[in-house]
Amino acid sequence: MRYNPRAMKSVMVTGGAGFIGSNYVRFALERHPDWRIVVLDKFTYAGNPDNLKDIAERFKDRFTVVRGDIADREVVFETMRMHRVDIIINFAADTHVDRSLTEPGQFILTDVYGTYVLLEAAREFKVERYHQISTDEVYGDIPEPHRSREDDRLRGSSPYSASKAGGDLMCLAYHRSFGVPVTITRGTNNIGPYQYPEKVVPLFITNAIDNLPLPLYGDGKQMRDYQYVLDHCEGIDVVIERGVPGEVYNIGSGVETRNIDMARAILDLLGKPYTLIQPITDRPGHDRRYAVDISKVRALGWQPRHTFAQAIEKTVRWYVDNEWWWRKIKSGEFMEYYKRHYSGREVNLQLEL
Ligand code: NAD
Ligand code: DAU
Repeated sequence: MRYNPRAMKSVMVTGGAGFIGSNYVRFALERHPDWRIVVLDKFTYAGNPDNLKDIAERFKDRFTVVRGDIADREVVFETMRMHRVDIIINFAADTHVDRSLTEPGQFILTDVYGTYVLLEAAREFKVERYHQISTDEVYGDIPEPHRSREDDRLRGSSPYSASKAGGDLMCLAYHRSFGVPVTITRGTNNIGPYQYPEKVVPLFITNAIDNLPLPLYGDGKQMRDYQYVLDHCEGIDVVIERGVPGEVYNIGSGVETRNIDMARAILDLLGKPYTLIQPITDRPGHDRRYAVDISKVRALGWQPRHTFAQAIEKTVRWYVDNEWWWRKIKSGEFMEYYKRHYSGREVNLQLEL
């Protein structure tokens, strides 16, 4: 495709080599023919060039990758200058709750300080929009029947969720104090292609394919709203286009599933026995339930397209069809992490199967 660079918008997607970021970049390049995207990513263990392989081939004249840390002011400001960035969309973060329990400092550096550096860049370069990707975890444990609304108190339980809440508050402060046109979306648990298999759904699917145990925390009755990643991407896009600066929007399917039922759904789809489910000791500080009210983003004209059953079916199919992607990952660093994290945690618990 030929394009006129002056008619194009320049969009910097930080963390675009990760799970949701790479799905969003693919979605946005298709949806917005007038966007050029530069991905700024540190390529941590979760950032993977394979996530962007097809994009680099299909959209080579509108797509660039810069390796760098969002907490590094020089790299961020240089990328902004070089690419004359109009919009910043920040997906970059340390994202795994379990890892935040053993290395909280790294989460503060990226999720709080890194967000501050990006906001400084947004302010200095007077961007049209700064969009922050946040999470429903900032609301903490939600007792039934409440569903979190955007102005609820922030009560993050883990160093991860506390760091994300810190990032959100910094965004709102930059809007109020300096007029930076910030929007924030708080998404629920995403599932779909290219998710690093430390997260429960790709871990359970890939373990089940190999007839390995599915390590289920506690009694498995914790509830999460598992939404399909492309629904989330579409919601983010709607908020960037139609959302009001200074506002926060929840994005999710609006339906929660218990972890034990999610595990059983995966085993049913793969034709594997429930006896693969292995109860293990619980995550410290484990939030029992997340549930969000999505009426505010619905009012912008967005709605989820997948039920949990459809989302998990598509997700299982992708991992079955794309062993080339996950088998490489489930070796080396990952296996060391896996042994360190899961060894010796098995418990004898009679689950309600
Ligand atoms: P991920 O761990 O798959 O990817 C994170 C990406 O950020 C990786 O490419 C990594 O290399 C990059 N990164 C990490 N630190 C960086 C730094 N200092 N500088 C530049 N790049 C850095 O994460 P994900 O699941 O795709 O999550 C993306 C965003 O969405 C995060 O902000 C997360 O908090 C949020 N979120 C995730 C979910 C979910 O279910 N996965 C739900 C709601 C919100
Ligand atoms: O709610 C949005 C959040 O969802 C995002 O902000 C986070 O970045 C993302 O990692 C995710 O956090 P969770 O802690 O909910 O995801 P995780 O996949 O780690 O765990 C989902 C549920 O499954 C949770 O109740 C813990 C449980 N679990 C997790 C793992 C890794 C298990 O039972 N066994 C496991 O091995």
